[in-house]
Amino acid sequence: MGKLEGKVAFITGAGRGQGRSHAVTLAGEGADIIAVDICEDIPTVNYEMASAEDLAQTVKEVEATGRSIVAVKADVRVKEQLKSALDQGLARFGRVDIVCANAGILPMNDRTLIEGFIDGMDVDFVGAHNTVAVVAPHLRAGASIIVTGSCAGLMKNTTEAMGKTGGVGYSFAKRLVFQYVETLALQLAPHNIRLNAVHPTNVNTRLLMNDDIYRSFRPDLVAAGKIPTREDAEVAFPAMQPMPIPYIEVGDASALVAFLASDDSRYITGLNIRLDAGSMLKGERAI
Ligand SMILES: NC(=O)c1ccc[n+]([C@@H]2O[C@H](COP(=O)([O-])OP(=O)(O)OC[C@H]3O[C@@H](n4cnc5c(N)ncnc54)[C@H](O)[C@@H]3O)[C@@H](O)[C@H]2O)c1
Repeated sequence: MGKLEGKVAFITGAGRGQGRSHAVTLAGEGADIIAVDICEDIPTVNYEMASAEDLAQTVKEVEATGRSIVAVKADVRVKEQLKSALDQGLARFGRVDIVCANAGILPMNDRTLIEGFIDGMDVDFVGAHNTVAVVAPHLRAGASIIVTGSCAGLMKNTTEAMGKTGGVGYSFAKRLVFQYVETLALQLAPHNIRLNAVHPTNVNTRLLMNDDIYRSFRPDLVAAGKIPTREDAEVAFPAMQPMPIPYIEVGDASALVAFLASDDSRYITGLNIRLDAGSMLKGERAI
């Protein structure tokens, strides 16, 4: 028997990366999955979003565990799209018990004034809130909501120092997640519904493995007029964490999410949990 047998999880940003890993891990514990991803690019983001093929791969991997999945293209910035996705999932499974508000972007391409900041806020904070808002009316006692924050967002001089408004928007959004969890968990607690956030350090996904991040980790090469590569950045990634690793893997985040989703954590709520190999012990905190 899995720890999530009979439960249903609603997961945003499930087309790849941590979201896909959460879907497959929670399914491995017995949950059926409602998976959402934008499946189209966002112009302020310099790397591609998950594709329809990526989301189809998530479907394949969840079904390989023996569980069922409803996968829908939807943008977390648009409540109506999220609601339509949820309704399709509810029509199939009849319930929802777990929410992973995981979708996120690092938008480093300001085409117009503060456009990156706006998109960062809209996806990374408002998108998480929209997810909670749309699912909340259907949650019952025992439900668990998990929002994905970011340790980099909670520290000074990380994404906000990348020289673009989207980096500031990313940090601000993740700092709001911190306060959101502490504020809203208290409102949900009397209903026996829990809300926590996971704040990872660098994770080995596309949000980390892209040219904007390589440049931010190798300012020395940028100053020398060079274009940093992933290999160049790999040398610098370990500087973030006191534990001797360059980044964590998606499964590390999913293990914590599965714990928070299950009754093993039934009295844990309102926590902002650092999954960071010690990085916040080292960096300067912003919150
Ligand atoms: N990778 C890291 O280093 C890192 C570190 C800390 C926190 N995070 C957070 O982890 C979460 C997951 O990111 P990831 O690391 O898996 O990166 P990722 O880029 O691989 O995955 C993000 C997913 O979200 C989807 N998405 C983006 N905007 C969306 C929207 N508007 N609506 C629906 N889906 C959307 C993308 O298509 C993609 O599938 C994000 O909230 C991110 O901020 C990542």
